[in-house]
Amino acid sequence: MKEFHTEAINHPIFKLIGEASDELGVDAYVIGGFVRDYFLKRNIPKDIDVVAIGSGIELAKKVASKLKGKPEISVFKNFGTAMIKHKELELEFVGARKESYNRDSRKPIVEDGTLEDDQNRRDFTINAMALSLNSGDFGKLLDPFDGLTDLDKQIIRTPLEPGITYSDDPLRMMRAIRFATQLNFTIELKSLQAITENKDRIKIVSKERIVDELHKILLSSKPSVGLKLMHQTGLLPLILPELTALQGIEEKEGQRHKDNFWHTLEVVDNIAENTDNLWLRWAALLHDIGKAPTKKFHKKNGWTFHAHEFVGAKMVYRLFKRLRMPLNEKMKFVQKMVLMSSRPIILSEDHVTDSAVRRLVFDAGDFVEDLMTLCEADITTKNPRKQRKYKNNFKIVRQKIVEVEERDHVRNFQPPVSGEQIMTTFNLKPSKEIGIIKDAIKEAILEGEIPNEYEAAYNFMLEKGRKMNLKVHSE
Ligand code: CTP
Repeated sequence: MKEFHTEAINHPIFKLIGEASDELGVDAYVIGGFVRDYFLKRNIPKDIDVVAIGSGIELAKKVASKLKGKPEISVFKNFGTAMIKHKELELEFVGARKESYNRDSRKPIVEDGTLEDDQNRRDFTINAMALSLNSGDFGKLLDPFDGLTDLDKQIIRTPLEPGITYSDDPLRMMRAIRFATQLNFTIELKSLQAITENKDRIKIVSKERIVDELHKILLSSKPSVGLKLMHQTGLLPLILPELTALQGIEEKEGQRHKDNFWHTLEVVDNIAENTDNLWLRWAALLHDIGKAPTKKFHKKNGWTFHAHEFVGAKMVYRLFKRLRMPLNEKMKFVQKMVLMSSRPIILSEDHVTDSAVRRLVFDAGDFVEDLMTLCEADITTKNPRKQRKYKNNFKIVRQKIVEVEERDHVRNFQPPVSGEQIMTTFNLKPSKEIGIIKDAIKEAILEGEIPNEYEAAYNFMLEKGRKMNLKVHSE
């Protein structure tokens, strides 16, 4: 076993935990993500895992009694763990354990164990490194699987035979892919093969945990790394079959369409350069999913994906529901982005008119900038001339958005004449005429026939009423 003294743990909390463990006569180690991220010089995580060779709960109690302000401890007896929130830190204490797994569940049978048992049961060599906290050997690195070398070589490797590690806890398949994406590491070939062999076991993992990992993949700087690994190992069709369905190029009568799967991965990487908004990144991932079910070949028009945005938006709901993701305004936002995802490009192909931009701003409301970010990411053409043309046209659209906004205020547009007022003016009871007039006013404003102002709208209403043979009510 390699020994290594380090200054990794010069935060005073570690000395304090060391003292508490000395007093209890147990050995204690900081382990897992903290140690990994320290050696990677990443931002040190706020959650710190401490393993005790003995009772983690007793150690937590002792630590809490030594801390100023005597913080509360959350004890999870069933898991043998305890958690202390101390300033910005979350300290998690657990007794070292040995685990054996049942094939149908991620819940292991747990027994007390040695540090080595505990390290054996961990997911990756880079997550199994421990630093001693006791005063006798404070800061000593215990790294039985040579995680430090794997960090250096940028490799994701399991401490045990990968088949055992992944079959024990299939969530680790997603974790491996997520770490490879976040850290830009390579998954060892044996591991990659074991993931492929065990992929179907992902079904025993809760949707929430899978989605957590998906979010982390999507939030990384190059999400395509993880999505490609999911594709390569066969996990993708089990989790997001809508994406796999986009793969492939068909050719008929000499006409081909682009491969919408690989295109989507490019779009997701593009958008990752411009926004950290998780839901906008989801929108990029799903913007074309309606293309698989709507694909048709027409003798005259070639390949078409008629109404794919509409179909795609409906699929977003079903996908979120299946993955137990929130069916709230986040989902509606993704739907809206998918639904509108072709609007700016259509607009930019043509001469950009004010009324088209007004309609775009009106329909996208507060999300018009997000929509533009999505649509700019959607430009993946390798033809530099086309690329320049689209980018330039989007610049014009963005400029026009600002101009139109300043002049017409159509974002979150409230018609300047209300339904109430239409009813009083023409002495109408609630009826479809009111809707017709309201719509006509809105259309006239969006088309630029009248300005978005009260007086113009009022006069337009009188005129429209006259054409509909309505009489102005005089009191
Ligand atoms: N662990 C594991 N198998 C899992 C989850 C976690 O072996 N399915 C172990 C790993 O040793 C890991 C530690 O538990 O380092 C803590 O897990 P967690 O807090 O989920 O992950 P971190 O490694 O800290 O990384 P992150 O915070 O980025 O998830």
